[in-house]
Amino acid sequence: MGRPIRFLLDGEVRELPDDTDPTLTVLNLLRYHLRRTGTKEGCAEGDCGACTVALGELADGCVRVRAVNACILFAPMLDGRALFTVESLGREGALHPVQEAMVHRHASQCGFCTPGFVMSLHAARRGGEVLDRAGLADALAGNLCRCTGYGPILDAGLDTCLDTGRSGGDADDAALTGTLEAIRPAEMLVLDHRGRRFLAPRSADELAAALADNPEATLLAGGTDVGLWVTKQHRMLETVISLNEAADLARIDDLGHCVRIGAGVRYADAEPVLTALHPAFGELLRRLGGRQVRNLGTVCGNIANGSPIGDMPPALIAAGATLALRQGEARREIPLEAFFLAYGKQDLRPGEFVEAVIVRKPPGGRIFHLAKLSKRFEQDISAVCLGLSVGLAGGRVTDARVAFGGMAAIPKRAGAFEAALAGRPWTEAGVEPALEALSQDFRPISDMRASAAYRLEAARNLVRRAVLESAGAARLHDLRPVSA
Ligand code: FAD
Ligand code: FES
Ligand code: FES
Repeated sequence: MGRPIRFLLDGEVRELPDDTDPTLTVLNLLRYHLRRTGTKEGCAEGDCGACTVALGELADGCVRVRAVNACILFAPMLDGRALFTVESLGREGALHPVQEAMVHRHASQCGFCTPGFVMSLHAARRGGEVLDRAGLADALAGNLCRCTGYGPILDAGLDTCLDTGRSGGDADDAALTGTLEAIRPAEMLVLDHRGRRFLAPRSADELAAALADNPEATLLAGGTDVGLWVTKQHRMLETVISLNEAADLARIDDLGHCVRIGAGVRYADAEPVLTALHPAFGELLRRLGGRQVRNLGTVCGNIANGSPIGDMPPALIAAGATLALRQGEARREIPLEAFFLAYGKQDLRPGEFVEAVIVRKPPGGRIFHLAKLSKRFEQDISAVCLGLSVGLAGGRVTDARVAFGGMAAIPKRAGAFEAALAGRPWTEAGVEPALEALSQDFRPISDMRASAAYRLEAARNLVRRAVLESAGAARLHDLRPVSA
């Protein structure tokens, strides 16, 4: 006998039966089951932000509220959490300050995107963020509007994100914390729906056992890839095992010479830690998806999906990361680049999962450079992504770890280029002859993001830029669009 999904909506305990469809999205739950139609559907793939809701979870004894996309969030992931929608804001007819500001600034025309923007601003405000215009542009990069031109929305955001006082419609934290503690799940959630199963183990051990029993199951992390399998490809997932409730997988451990990032660590939580290792990670992560995606997606999910255009693998390969894999009680650790075997084929055995990625702290004196080329600055998949780490002695290259995304069927090191670099001066003239070797390393494809020729030339230019920027030239780019 399972147990219901138990979550808070506007601070009130709600339950969904243990035969709930495991891949019912929160958006469809809200619109079709709870008749809360303030949350809109624009794309159903995490891209437009119209479905943004705020999700509260216990973290370090208080409630952390973050913006997420309801369209790719499965209802079972609400278990033990607090959900807020645009209907949650404002009380007794009074508008919430964010809503007031949107009205005051005429920041809405057709209004279709507006609830999403309001929830993104609300979540940023609940998080106590004091945002300037650029910070707001980051916080709202996951929300699209086709009417207003964003200026009035940013103005409304500035009006409200400067005063982070509590206000009507912001459920009292202490009460919320108490209620979340009271509904904190004790045992694994098991849903059975017309022969389809959803399991949410509460520890890595339970997860390992569940996967050993169900090696064919779909492992669910943040669901920012898996969610689209359901909403866009209409796949019927038979058995889903969620790692989101395994608290020991959501840990980041500083092991001295490296940090260990667990499989459940979301981008938003990895960002400060990786950025502390090297600022280049910060820019790369800031451009990965929008905030709603970063609040759900995991670093290990970006690795495990094996995508040839995932942003994290080239960066982490350059950083010399290793992957901790687990199958039942058996564990092994491999260099990250060895995980990617061929397109859609990773070195992952049946019932095995990525338990963590271990990222070495860059030793001093190395050049570490990451660069992402994509059509849109934010919320876009890269056409080419470079991770480069070069050791120098006397201005000459002693060793290099250079990896690219978007250049092959897998994230891949540029072995011929690394060999050609060895011993050469790390200068424009010194590196130039070695760049030819990139055409030995890669035979890129042409697709809607870029032609093969563009990718190869862009790869060379990204290395040239790394040389110039590391030689102290001013940052050659800040391709951020001029904020409206
Ligand atoms: P999930 O979707 O839960 O899982 C992804 C895959 O990995 C599944 O096959 C799952 O079974 C498997 N998996 C997950 N965790 C493990 C594990 N621990 N062990 C074994 N298998 C596992 N990606 C980018 O790189 N750059 C971008 O700019 C970017 N932008 C995006 C924008 C949008 C709007 C969306 C929706 C996605 C975007 N993505 C981007 C893709 C996606 O966010 C990432 O690939 C994300 O890291 C996937 O992580 P997840 O936790 O959501 O994985
Ligand atoms: Fe577009 Fe969810 S509907 S992000
Ligand atoms: Fe129409 Fe933003 S007001 S999409």
